[in-house]
Amino acid sequence: MNAPLSIPLLDLREKAAHVYRDLPEANHVPGEFYASASIAKLEKERIFLETWLCVGRSEEIPLPGDYTTCQIADESFVLARNEAGEINAFMNMCVHRGVAVVSGKGNAQDFSCPYHAWLYDLSGNLVTAPRMTQTKAELKNCRMRRLKLEVWRGWIFVSFNPEPMSFDDFIAPYETELWWFQTDQCRIADKMVIEVDCNWKLLVENLVDVYHVPVLHKGTFGGFVKKNKADTFDVRLLPRGGWAYEQKARPHSSTGARTFPMLPWLKGMSEDTSCRAGIYPNLSLSMRSDSLRMWQVWPISASKCVLHVYLMFPHEAFDQPDFSANLEEYKGFITDLVAEDASMVVSLQHAMQSPFYEPGPMSHLEAAIQHIMKKYLDVVTA
Ligand code: FES
Ligand SMILES: [Fe+2]
Repeated sequence: MNAPLSIPLLDLREKAAHVYRDLPEANHVPGEFYASASIAKLEKERIFLETWLCVGRSEEIPLPGDYTTCQIADESFVLARNEAGEINAFMNMCVHRGVAVVSGKGNAQDFSCPYHAWLYDLSGNLVTAPRMTQTKAELKNCRMRRLKLEVWRGWIFVSFNPEPMSFDDFIAPYETELWWFQTDQCRIADKMVIEVDCNWKLLVENLVDVYHVPVLHKGTFGGFVKKNKADTFDVRLLPRGGWAYEQKARPHSSTGARTFPMLPWLKGMSEDTSCRAGIYPNLSLSMRSDSLRMWQVWPISASKCVLHVYLMFPHEAFDQPDFSANLEEYKGFITDLVAEDASMVVSLQHAMQSPFYEPGPMSHLEAAIQHIMKKYLDVVTA
């Protein structure tokens, strides 16, 4: 497992050439891409340190002084709101020797490094460096390295890359496609954090895999999603690995009945209105007529990842007298369906690490998986 990359990238690209064939002739991605530590390292450089990443909601740090620390691909950074109410992102790495200056989340007036007490303001600027009286170094304009940051519909996007593509260009394909996900009219009811023993891509693929839904999820929500007559998958494939589709699907509850108020922007539409979308590389969005879910998948190692699930509702849902009880039941439902998926992706991970694994043919219902993985291979094997 996690063997070093033993074949050159060019050969790997060749090995994955079948992924690019027309869908009826295409096969899934070779196992190395899910099992190799070297490829995980390449992904970090070429994906996670390169592109825009959705890392949270501005409502998670609502007040001046609020901060939270995040770990992405083994890098630690801070999201903090300063006195002026602006959100900044900066590496959690002291300018002196690199110690993490803060952990967890909370509210602070400043950040004092625990090692030699260099002090930083809420924007990550160095304020004082005690006893550095003889240094010739210019410490006046020092700061912890800043990350690019944009807030879009309440979502915080950052980029480790000091010169990423413009955020407007990045988000443009989703501006109209994500009309269904009016998250600025909603707030977070809960954020679930679930570790899964699989490569992060297996979960990203699983989250757009409509093929497995009536089979694996027959005991939870599988029966509430309607197949179309032709048994096709009418997904729109967006530039740079994005995707979106609408479907008829009942709300997420054990009976398929709606337990929360209708989303206000769906007024006049039926209760089985539902849609899904994905923003490359690792954000997946899901809407039922009474709820929104946002799923982020973060790599921990080649064979381990963590899923962050944001459960969101419009403001009026929180005023329901039975909201807390309904939320508990709904969380139980989501936990059950994630457990169903987790059992499969863990099994997939075993296969990816086996010398006997041969990638099998793709179904026409796996068009979005092919789309995402083509973009992935373009980036990683370029
Ligand atoms: S490492 Fe932070 S003050 Fe020395
Ligand atoms: Fe699933």
